[in-house]
Amino acid sequence: KISAFIFDLDGVITDTAEYHYLAWKQLAEELGIFFDREFNEQLKGVSRMESLERILAFGNQAERYTKEEKEALAAKKNEHYKQLIEKITPNDLLPGIAELLEDLKKRGIKIGLASASKNAFAVIERLQIGGYFDTIVDAANIQHSKPHPEIFLTAAQQLGVPCVECVGVEDAEAGIQAIKAANMFAVGVGTKEAMKDADYIVESTADLNYESILKAFQQK
Ligand code: G6P
Ligand code: MG
Repeated sequence: KISAFIFDLDGVITDTAEYHYLAWKQLAEELGIFFDREFNEQLKGVSRMESLERILAFGNQAERYTKEEKEALAAKKNEHYKQLIEKITPNDLLPGIAELLEDLKKRGIKIGLASASKNAFAVIERLQIGGYFDTIVDAANIQHSKPHPEIFLTAAQQLGVPCVECVGVEDAEAGIQAIKAANMFAVGVGTKEAMKDADYIVESTADLNYESILKAFQQK
């Protein structure tokens, strides 16, 4: 049986994955590094500092900056990002998410959030959906980033639910790996290529539906 759903935030609940992309792109271009959406797939679900490291390595600038300078660059990206999320309203929930959260609540299924973002609480607040979550685990509560399973394991523990009864929902490769490593059922939102390790794939959040996920879960 399914006892809990644990959701990633950025790119699953709302389209902040796009805002992270735009904010990194702006910073990178200021540094003379140009990357596209394909490279951006490798940044999804990855922590702020690790994302910066990957971008600098991509632009052959890994050795150029001191630790302090890198922290300043990451802070600058976060300023761009914070400006973008200021515009978020409850209308910015991705299609089908409000209905799914409501459906899960009615069925008595626990709901958790597992986001690597230090801005997770601010985004949830702007979306006005805090009330749906039985637990929120963010970057401040964990040591290891996705693909390490820690964030999903912590959420399950806080919900008091065994991992085998949890469904994780992710849009990032690193996130799917984290869910699988936590021994949970992985639902991927995205293309078949990007979500290839997921147990169940939907192209859009509009296709997330409890009954279909339960069927796939039982078949596994
Ligand atoms: C999520 C996003 C990443 C982001 C990370 C850290 O995992 O998918 O794109 O880099 O959170 O977010 P933060 O808001 O703390 O910089
Ligand atoms: Mg994500």
